[in-house]
Formats: sequence, C-alpha cells, structure tokens
Amino acid sequence: MRRVVLAYSGGLDTSIAVRWLIENRDAEVIAVAVDVGQEADATSDSWEAIRQRALAAGAAEAIVVDARQEMAEEFCFAAVRANARYEGKYPLVSALSRPVIVRHLVRAARDHGAHAVAHGCTGKGNDQVRFEVATRALAPDLDVIAPARVWGLTREQSVEYAAKWDIPITVTKEKVYSIDENLWGKSIECGVLEDPWVDPPEDIFTMTRITASSPVEVVVGFEQGVPVSLDGERLAGDDLVVALGRLAGSTGFGRLNMVENRRVGIKSREIYEAPGALALLMAHADLEDLTLERDLQHEKARLEPRWAELVYDGMWYSPLKQALDAFMTESQRHVTGEVKLRFSPPGAGFVVGRRSPVALYDRSLATYDSGDAFHHEDAEGFVRLWGLGIATWAARQGEGRAES
Ligand code: ARG
Repeated sequence: MRRVVLAYSGGLDTSIAVRWLIENRDAEVIAVAVDVGQEADATSDSWEAIRQRALAAGAAEAIVVDARQEMAEEFCFAAVRANARYEGKYPLVSALSRPVIVRHLVRAARDHGAHAVAHGCTGKGNDQVRFEVATRALAPDLDVIAPARVWGLTREQSVEYAAKWDIPITVTKEKVYSIDENLWGKSIECGVLEDPWVDPPEDIFTMTRITASSPVEVVVGFEQGVPVSLDGERLAGDDLVVALGRLAGSTGFGRLNMVENRRVGIKSREIYEAPGALALLMAHADLEDLTLERDLQHEKARLEPRWAELVYDGMWYSPLKQALDAFMTESQRHVTGEVKLRFSPPGAGFVVGRRSPVALYDRSLATYDSGDAFHHEDAEGFVRLWGLGIATWAARQGEGRAES
C-alpha cells in the first residue's frame, strides 16, 4: 500500500474520495483538513466531527491543521499590499486559500512518506490548477491524484457510493449551491445562479446579512502596508479580518455579483461576499494615495493586475510572483497610518478620512488659504517648458501653423 495525502473538507466528494483511493489506487489515505477560517455556524460541523468522518470513511489517519493566522498574515495581507482584485473585482477568495492548503498537504506528505497528494476538484475549475501547480512548485517529485476527474459520478451516484460504504455524510438530495469559504470571504456558484441574469436570492448570504439599521464607523490602522489594528486595538491578522468583516457585513457591505474568466477557458457567473477583504482593500488603497510617491504609485498600479492574475492562475509559488512580492513589500515602507471607514446599510461603504505620520500630503503646499508655502513664480517657467514641445508642434504642423 502506498500512502496518499488527501485534501479533506468533510463534504460528500472528499469523503467518498477516501474510499475511492483505497479501492482504486490501493492507497493508505492520510486525510488533511485545513482550517482557513471556514465559518463555523450552527449548521456546520466541528473540526473534530470532520476528522471522525474521515476516519469513518476509511482514512488511516486524519489531521486538522489550524492555518487561520498564516492564511491572513502571509496570504491575504500580501494581497492587500498588492491591492489584488482579479479582473478589477474579485479579491481572490478561493485562490488565496489553495496555496496555504497545499503547503500543509506537502508537509503531511513528507511527514508520512506519501508518494502523492489528492484533491476533490473536478476538471472544470480553477482550483484543480491551483492545487496541482502549487504542489509541483513545492514538491515536484509528488504525484497528484484527482479522483473526481476520473470517477465520473453524478451527485446521486456519489450519495449511493457513500451509502454502500457506510460513509456518514449528511447530504440533502439536491445540493443547491457550490460554496467555498475562508476568512477572506465566500464564493457561491451553481443552481439558479448559473443564469447570469438572475438576481441572487437573499438567503445565500451569510457574511453580509443586514442586521445594522444605522451607519457604522471604524478606524483601520496599517504599518508598512499591513493591517494591524481596529479602532486602535492591535489584533492578530485573522481576528482583524473577521472582526472587520462582521462589522462591515452587518450593513450588507461586501457583495459581488459578476461574470469572470476562469483559467480553463470558461466564463462563470460568481457571487462573492467578502466584507472584511473588500473593506481592507479599500482602506489600504486609500492610504497609498496619501503616502506613495507618484511614480511609485503609478508603476505599482501597472503591476497589481499581473499579481492578481498570477495568484488567480495558481502561480502563487512562482519566480515572477516572488519578484513582484519583493517589489510590493518594498513599496510599502511608508504605507503607515490610519483610515476611517463608514458603512451604511444597505451595502454602502466608503473612506471618510485618512492620516499618516509620513503622509506626502502637505497642507502648506495644497492650501488655497493663508499659510501657502508654494512658490507660484516657479509655476510659470515649469508650465512653459512642459508645453514647449506642443507649442513647437502647433506652430509647424498643427492648427496654429503659419500659412505657407
Ligand atoms: N471562481 C472562483 C475562483 O476561481 C471561486 C472558486 C470556488 N471554488 C469552489 N471549489 N467552489 O477562485
């Protein structure tokens, strides 16, 4: 028997994958469930229940890893530094969790002498790309097995398979949505949402359910581009994201309804809710407006979409992404200060103020009141030289040329 480390979620697909690997790959399965901050609400299972289910499904061993803090501080906050929004919108919720999960799969594979890792993704999505490319990057010698790409089971057949092997899963006959969740947000697909014209039903939202009746305000503190505090209280990264998300989400802020381009060539309709993520991204970009020198800010803006695209495409562990990270980190040296946010039900959120000890905003230069320190006489020569080329062009070739 050869050992295989399986990325285990506790759901139907990864549960029957345990048995499938035993039966079809003669494997001894090590199930690894990675806690990246999936919301533990009343209806979801405890991590211990998930661990027990993996064992009941036939796993030789089942491990739960708490990766919430590294998810927030190493992965989500790198995305904050890069103002990362794929196609200008999606804050990379699922894309950021896969490289964290893979890191722990590879670690477990080494600890247990496994020859392969396995995941429950189908062939249509981005997540298979992220799992596999990240695994290759960290451990080029490991094989990757994707049972769901091989078995070709319908949902009904999967339920029967689970029943046949006494795998204790709680499933409704019809699973309505496909949901992926972590502390950065939640993505919701399938069912009625597959029609891009259809308005998402209110009951799919859990992180942005509107409970506030009046606006709420919060001050986010950053040090060198890293979110460190809420209203002056220093918090660990994961706690900060969750607390800010609760606050912003209570006003309905943080929903996205979009069509995106998957790496595998399919356009898909996506609903996201990511209140903490979108609030931090908004605050951070605003603080950069106050603290980044113009050329640096403009060049950074050109590199940001590339960073987001690389992460979306599964290239978290790649030389270009690493090099861009070095640039992003260097750019954040002076992105320190506070941003005041206001969230107003239903769903509005905006920056209402910002301040920094190293702000490049200089009131004595900007003011139109007394105390003006700007040298107005410098402007005349500057503007004449700025326009000199245009004036020459106009006189010889443009509208203003002398008739010959
Ligand atoms: N389209 C999003 C992405 O590629 C969401 C993926 C959701 N994943 C899932 N297994 N349901 O990042």
